[in-house]
Amino acid sequence: MNSTNTYGTITSLDGGLHLLNHPLASHIMTHLRDKTTKPATFRTLATQLTLLLAIEATRQLTLETKLVETPLEKYMGDILKQNPIVVVPILRAGLSMVQPFVDTFPDVSIGYIGLERDHETAKARSYYCKLPALHDRLVFAVDPMLATGGSACQALTLLKNSGAIRPYFVCIVAAPEGYAALRKEHPDVPVYAAALDRELNAKSYILPGLGDFGDRLYGT
Ligand code: PRP
Ligand code: URA
Repeated sequence: MNSTNTYGTITSLDGGLHLLNHPLASHIMTHLRDKTTKPATFRTLATQLTLLLAIEATRQLTLETKLVETPLEKYMGDILKQNPIVVVPILRAGLSMVQPFVDTFPDVSIGYIGLERDHETAKARSYYCKLPALHDRLVFAVDPMLATGGSACQALTLLKNSGAIRPYFVCIVAAPEGYAALRKEHPDVPVYAAALDRELNAKSYILPGLGDFGDRLYGT
């Protein structure tokens, strides 16, 4: 990766990978990584981090002006224009990232893509897909872990084949290998992550990582 650019609470690498750069995000990440963190706390931390990511990934939302009255005088302010957003979690772990989008943005619809990695081959198998209309919408694929990139690439291809023009990918931890794979197959897709980790191990788990996100989330 060549160019680094920091703006606000985001550091952008290579123009395509946007990393959270905020003390609160670092604090939450460390507790998520801690193996003694219990599922209930893990879920809360994942929600908090996703809210930070959602705020950063939606900077391009458009505004329109609206005249309101404060208790003292008239005020011409900005409000969100209608920005139809579609959030598509990759099941199952991606479900943990849906609520912050739904709670924060008024015009959200949700699609679902079910993918599961074979633990031996690390290849993703598709088992479910239900998507709303994607054309002319701002589409966010969400999945906490970008490891080999196989699941993300497959999901993004599915979204594009279903009408998404320039979907975004939002994750919590990205591995360099996964980001490289995604960049190669989907160079147009902006990626937002809370952390870029060191590498994958022989079983394609992210190091230092946080283990199996789905298992830690659901206590399985
Ligand atoms: C995890 C994770 C991603 C995938 C990432 O899901 O949530 O979907 O692995 O790995 P990749 O980049 O190598 O494809 P998993 O298959 O473990 O399913 P789960 O969400 O049901 O736990
Ligand atoms: N999926 C996970 O949940 N964790 C990893 O480290 C890699 C893939």
